[in-house]
Amino acid sequence: MNETTASSEELKTAARRALTTHLVDWAITTRHSVRAFLPTPVPREAIEAILTVASRAPSGTNTQPWKVHVVTGYPKAQLTAAVQRAFDDPRVASTHTEEYAYYPREWISPFVERRRKVGWDLYGLLGIAKGDRERTHAQHRRNYQFFDAPVGLLFTMDRVMDQGSFLDYGMFIQSVMVAARARGLDTCPQASFNQFHRIIEQELGLPKNERFLCAMSLGYADTSKVENTLRTEREPVRAFTVFHG
Ligand SMILES: Cc1cc2nc3c(=O)[nH]c(=O)nc-3n(C[C@H](O)[C@H](O)[C@H](O)COP(=O)(O)O)c2cc1C
Repeated sequence: MNETTASSEELKTAARRALTTHLVDWAITTRHSVRAFLPTPVPREAIEAILTVASRAPSGTNTQPWKVHVVTGYPKAQLTAAVQRAFDDPRVASTHTEEYAYYPREWISPFVERRRKVGWDLYGLLGIAKGDRERTHAQHRRNYQFFDAPVGLLFTMDRVMDQGSFLDYGMFIQSVMVAARARGLDTCPQASFNQFHRIIEQELGLPKNERFLCAMSLGYADTSKVENTLRTEREPVRAFTVFHG
């Protein structure tokens, strides 16, 4: 190989690497929670491709603890109706509680401030004043119609699996969201469904050993909607990293 061809090969490799870095970083950093979707359907092949890619997520001893229920059309509408019926009646809603604690029981700094900020920022964008119960309820309620996304994903795991599998599962869920971005799709992971896990179990006919973990909206973002302009903050690396040595 002469000098000219060697350097052009090197250039090609460097360009490929730079492009790969850009594309992977792009898919990760453009992921954000979308809370208004277009009715544009998502082809079944796209959903299967996303789940195939995400199934490459690692898991301790390759246990692959994930199980996904995909709802569209009539079953999705039925699920929405059942959950919203319970959510709209405070007496009924109070009889539904989440099965596992997603959030801490005690909120301390800095987590409580971050939690409040994202809430204020979202409701501020939507022009929902603090204390406006009706509009707060209506916005929260949109969770249960998957923010109008054509696809709802419901993630479950065998009850026999323990805390380590929750780590594995998080990697799988993030992979779903990143693979969706690579296909021009958007998502919103949703723990708001957790309170109504009994309704989900019933609607999906889940066997006793399957525990509902959380849901996700999947579809094409409606970029005309103000709630989708929300971009959340992150702490800089130095704030959460300790370099030893
Ligand atoms: C497991 C999980 C559950 C979540 N549940 C909800 C939810 O029920 N409703 C909602 O609107 N957002 C939900 N979110 C989105 C978070 O509010 C969001 O990820 C966070 O504010 C950071 O913003 P970003 O996703 O736009 O980067 C959830 C996120 C995760 C990871």
